[in-house]
Amino acid sequence: MEKLKRECEECTACELHTVRTNIVFGIGNENADILFIGEAPGENEDLQGQPFVGRSGKLLDELLAEVGFSRNDNIYIANMLKCRPPKNRDPKPSEQAACLHFLERQIEMINPKIVVCVGRIAAQKLISKDFKVTSQHGTFIERDGRLYTATYHPAAILRNIHQKPYAQEDLRIIKEKLLEISK
Ligand code: URA
Repeated sequence: MEKLKRECEECTACELHTVRTNIVFGIGNENADILFIGEAPGENEDLQGQPFVGRSGKLLDELLAEVGFSRNDNIYIANMLKCRPPKNRDPKPSEQAACLHFLERQIEMINPKIVVCVGRIAAQKLISKDFKVTSQHGTFIERDGRLYTATYHPAAILRNIHQKPYAQEDLRIIKEKLLEISK
């Protein structure tokens, strides 16, 4: 994983490398059963080189803690993109395409039982291109011997707090599913 991270640090495959402070490779347990995948680093993440460290990261940690998940212990957190898009705009398809192989290799190495897409961008890339978080969150599909699911992005929850209970329920379902498939 260190080797892959170094490769990522040297990556110049898309224009985002010209404006990054740091790459944001990922954090957590490299043997985790659950891998959470967000969209792309924001300003704080770019400055600190770690995923989800701003306001939405605080909310994500709170939601995770409610079901006993922690980035310091039993999960891994990464993003679709390793570099910050300027002004936090949506990643371009070309940037996603250029970056995807890093995530694919992270998935192979971590070998999680469940991949949780955090928000639309990850879900539409990793589950299906017309995935709708509002109607399909908390559902599972099987692919390559793992389960994929999606939940609300914490930044979306901060904009609409009524979504929070749905994300809390999704995390409970994910925890239950992990227990069920680990039996
Ligand atoms: N939003 C994301 O999708 N990922 C981060 O790391 C931070 C904010």
